Amino acid sequence: MGQVHDEILPGRVEHANLRDYTLAVQQFRWEDVERTFSWYHTGKVNMTHEAIDRHVLEGRGAATALIYSDPSREERYTFADLQEHSSRFGNVLRKYGVGKGERVFIFMPRSPELYFSLLGVLRVGAVAGPLFEAFMETAVKDRLEDSGAVALVTTPELLKRVRREELPTLRHIIVVGRAVGEQGIISYEAEMAAAKAELEPEWLTLEDGLIMHYTSGSTGKPKGVYHAQRAMIQHYYTGKIVLDLRPDDIYWCTADPGWVTGTSYGIFAPWLNGVTNVVRGGRFSPGDWYRTIERFAVTVWYSAPTAFRMLMGAGENSLAGIDLRSLRHVLSVGEPLNPEVVRWGDKVYRQRIHDTWWMTETGAQLICNYPGMDIKPGSMGRPLPGIEAAILDDRGNEVPPYTMGNLAIRTPWPSMMAKIWNNQAKYDEYFRIPGWYISGDSAYMDEDGYFWFQGRIDDVINSSGERIGPFEVESKLVEHPAVAEAGVIGKPDLLRGEIIKAFISLREGYTATAELKDEIAAFVKAGLSAHAAPREIEFKEKLPKTRSGKIMRRVLKAWELQLPAGDLSTIED
Ligand code: WTA
Repeated sequence: MGQVHDEILPGRVEHANLRDYTLAVQQFRWEDVERTFSWYHTGKVNMTHEAIDRHVLEGRGAATALIYSDPSREERYTFADLQEHSSRFGNVLRKYGVGKGERVFIFMPRSPELYFSLLGVLRVGAVAGPLFEAFMETAVKDRLEDSGAVALVTTPELLKRVRREELPTLRHIIVVGRAVGEQGIISYEAEMAAAKAELEPEWLTLEDGLIMHYTSGSTGKPKGVYHAQRAMIQHYYTGKIVLDLRPDDIYWCTADPGWVTGTSYGIFAPWLNGVTNVVRGGRFSPGDWYRTIERFAVTVWYSAPTAFRMLMGAGENSLAGIDLRSLRHVLSVGEPLNPEVVRWGDKVYRQRIHDTWWMTETGAQLICNYPGMDIKPGSMGRPLPGIEAAILDDRGNEVPPYTMGNLAIRTPWPSMMAKIWNNQAKYDEYFRIPGWYISGDSAYMDEDGYFWFQGRIDDVINSSGERIGPFEVESKLVEHPAVAEAGVIGKPDLLRGEIIKAFISLREGYTATAELKDEIAAFVKAGLSAHAAPREIEFKEKLPKTRSGKIMRRVLKAWELQLPAGDLSTIED
């Protein structure tokens, strides 16, 4: 049973489109949203047409589409510029014979070129695979190999992490930033300068591919969540109704395109709605973040709980002399948003932070707090019009209010993943209860239809909003010569939500020392990525295992939280 919460922050009607929302609920039909897109009229579609070319055709080509800023660059591009750059890049891909349905991965830090190339990939009907810049060798190789990527766009620094000789399908490498005279390397700058500035998009159907994001489950390697063009219907619609985007908005989503929030809401939703999209490169710093809002007069801001907690931790001093009055609407995603953060936002930003719930697999927002809606701090909100959510028991029966169970969504919806790449069995697991998508999250619903997040049902770790599969970390850990066995769990953490904690048993001849802990953590960091490296390591003589030899993470977690370990009937001894 969940607790009963009675705190309600009334929706602010002065900046709300509550009436539009109520109307939308009453009259909602996905078909009406589809009318916006060329598909509805011609039977063909392409994200670059809908998000970029359409605005140029309709006379908005001179409007600012992208404001890019980092400590060394500040640049602005119009929709017409994006049309040109993406066309050039599309022509480069065509020249090398890359086209419809092929996977093109983009592995680079945020920069205007990242956005140009991603749009260029989509223009030729290829499927984009953005990779977060912090990935190291093994993580990069696993993803390129599984997806069978034929081309990669990267930088000279990051290219060093690509094991080209082990990737036979990878035919082309395009390097941004410096003409490299190396054999088999294509220079982005040289090719872009020579390419034609026009290219009609490859016309696709709604079921053709759009983008792939690798994400983690509790078992196995990361899985390639593959989205189809139809996701645009929901990107566009949620951009309107949840982000509340209006023509003059300056919108800033803080997520990197390596994660789904950075594409669905850092590229597609804002540009489908024709608004100015702010992209900030570089690292997190409270001062720089606030100055970004002030300098560009950001009106709609989408970020994540860990960031809000860090801003809260930086104190009100970090706001001295900063004017945030441009803000009209603030949203959060990725992990539980603490009620005290919502209250703090109300006080300090004079903004109610609107929590939104969704996942890589769902492609777009599903359960949200809308502008104008009464907010219950701590709740993820309510299913958006057109979406039916429920709490089910393990047999698929709906449970009464306040009872914890599987958070499930009625299938289908437009942005529902089209497949898990190369892994039909994994895909089918999500749909094991007929008519429903089983999210893997547990939650309960209250009597007003608000949903309250309770945790993951599986062992997936959520650290600072990043999803980490324990298996991937454990596999890396056991590659270290000192490690005999490893079990990895999420340990609750006030700032990051959870941190990664590894329990390790050592091989004969190794001694448990603080130096060895550091060395093992550094080993994971160098092989996978910084966010996958354990922040805490505990050496154990032996790890709890089932009779079939599987490490029982549930018992490790119970040790950590000093809770009863539950049913141990399957334990080894
Ligand atoms: C968690 C990010 C609590 C959840 C878009 C989900 C949340 C996973 C919320 C998906 C929220 C996301 N409150 N938890 N508002 N939003 N989560 O795939 O466990 O990186 O299953 O997608 O993050 O993470 P992913």
